[in-house]
Amino acid sequence: MKLSQKSKSINPAITLALTSKAIEMIKDGVDVINFSSGEPDFETPDYIKKAGIDAIENLSLYSDSDGLKELREAIAKKLLKENNLKYSYNQIIVCHGAKQALNNAFFAILDEGDEVIIPAPYWTSYPEIVKNCGGKPVFIYTQKEDCFKVTTQMLESALTPKTKAIIINTPNNPTGMVYTEEELSQIANFAVENDLFVISDELYEKLIYSNKIKHTSIASLGKEIYDRTIIINGFSKCYAMSGWRIGYTASNKKIAKVMSNIQNHTTSSVNVIAQRAALEALTSSNPILEDILYEFKKRRDYISQQISDIPMLSSLRPKGAFYQFIDVSKLFGHKVDDIIIEDSEDVAKILLDKYRVCVVPCNMFGYKKYIRLSYTTNMQNIVEGINRIEQFVKQNF
Ligand SMILES: Cc1ncc(COP(=O)(O)O)c(C=O)c1O
Repeated sequence: MKLSQKSKSINPAITLALTSKAIEMIKDGVDVINFSSGEPDFETPDYIKKAGIDAIENLSLYSDSDGLKELREAIAKKLLKENNLKYSYNQIIVCHGAKQALNNAFFAILDEGDEVIIPAPYWTSYPEIVKNCGGKPVFIYTQKEDCFKVTTQMLESALTPKTKAIIINTPNNPTGMVYTEEELSQIANFAVENDLFVISDELYEKLIYSNKIKHTSIASLGKEIYDRTIIINGFSKCYAMSGWRIGYTASNKKIAKVMSNIQNHTTSSVNVIAQRAALEALTSSNPILEDILYEFKKRRDYISQQISDIPMLSSLRPKGAFYQFIDVSKLFGHKVDDIIIEDSEDVAKILLDKYRVCVVPCNMFGYKKYIRLSYTTNMQNIVEGINRIEQFVKQNF
């Protein structure tokens, strides 16, 4: 019996594996501070849960495979109001999280061997999803000097006759950077000139920590780029609904139709209970978001300041999302007990095993010199976790 070559090329989700190890240690009574989780630590608000409970009691049969019409209409309304984007409900497909939205999008556009430009550092699943759909990830290693944002010169150097699409993720996981309208406009021109699709992952759009910075959707920058963009968004991060598994795509009608066929014959609709809850999240007034933003900003401010005070570590101050991307390369080549530190994975292992702090090594985001801290844990844990990281540096280097 032989498994497919394609299945063997897909790497395990290491971020989840690390989180699982930390959780196991916590269950065993070890006081691990977990900075690895990629989901908000807030409960889904009660009014959203209640809509789910009502749906269980009254409305629990299949919905249209693309999602409840009311929910797709509400998403279209949100896109118009918040993003200046005009879509009808049948251009929206409600998916099982942004992950399925990405899978549908790449399945719809890629032929075997088509290349997808992925600016690094990147969210760990992008390359695997591209490979899953027959494509070839092509990485561009963005620079700290450019705030880890891709430029058109970099895109130019990665372009080949097989290039089919570019992924743009703003606000970004893992860097926390946010693209400006001007930067997106240049990328949009590049995509149009070179006949490329843009997969625009906007999952963290509401998590931005300054009134002076605004989220722009690249699709809103003109008719031509609108036509070739597939927006990826969802409820996991901004509504504290990660476990409900609701994401969506917005695209032109032709792409939407193809993605609809794909979803129809794979998972069909997302469960209607979660869809009803998502509808409530979108249509009721939303005080929770302000609370979440306030709390994340407080944590972001604290972590950024503390990390900048620890010798040998350096980091840009994130503008959005809930991650701090930290350069640990000055620790490389030094010996801690019997281990000579060679990359961020060694740093992460020592931090977990000896200091009981779980961070994500960014090897799997394409950056061996960096670790990622999620500030999805409370302030008390953050203070203790940063203290432990400081001890690790001060005791060993
Ligand atoms: C940038 C980015 N895109 C997509 C996803 C997947 O989100 P979901 O949980 O809605 O599938 C994540 C999750 O961490 C992410 O960080």
